[in-house]
Amino acid sequence: MRINKFLAEKGIASRRHADEIVSAGRVQINGKIATLGENVEEGDVVLLDGQAITNSEKKEEYYIMNKPKGVVCTASDDRGRKTVMDLLPDNVGRVFPVGRLDYATEGLLILTNDGDLAFRLTHPSTEIPKTYMAKIEGTLTEKDLNPIRSGIELDGELTKKCKAHIVETNKSYTKVEITIKEGKNRQVRRMFEAIGKNVELLRRVSIGQLRLKGLDRGEFRPLTEQEILYLKGL
Ligand code: URA
Repeated sequence: MRINKFLAEKGIASRRHADEIVSAGRVQINGKIATLGENVEEGDVVLLDGQAITNSEKKEEYYIMNKPKGVVCTASDDRGRKTVMDLLPDNVGRVFPVGRLDYATEGLLILTNDGDLAFRLTHPSTEIPKTYMAKIEGTLTEKDLNPIRSGIELDGELTKKCKAHIVETNKSYTKVEITIKEGKNRQVRRMFEAIGKNVELLRRVSIGQLRLKGLDRGEFRPLTEQEILYLKGL
């Protein structure tokens, strides 16, 4: 089994984050620094930061959080900013965020140590709809949203068709509900920037049918069995 899958199955990190950990030289297999894509065989001794990764059964944990703005979605931040991990109490095991919301964005975030679920939920091929409420500076018409609906060029490729509609508009701002099925870096903000509009506030309100209701900013709760089964079926 590949080292990134092994680390994900042990609940150490998502597969993508596992690659970063391996590239940083923090993992050893049988006393040698592991390389990206290396295989782990039955009986191999794997160390992370010098500590053995045991074969004990890990307990999977799943949480939903209302991420506030001004918090980063990484395990640690080199600029010393507050992370979503800082919002979790000590009795929560080693979980990591599934996908990222940028520093200024708030809303629904899933945290888990289930690397396989995290991998599937964030893989572009699964096309899971993610809905955001965007507060845009100034007035917008439904027609202004057409380029966003049909595709905006970002990173040299067109964004997939998406749904967007105006919820409220006045002279100073417009609220737009937008549902995208991919997750490029700062995608929603950049799509509006491309039509000359500035996103003042951005909140993720749902992932598939899972909605952010009843959680205040910074609050979190464990997902129910039903919600976990739903996400695994997406
Ligand atoms: N789009 C953004 O611009 N930011 C996010 O955090 C998520 C989607």
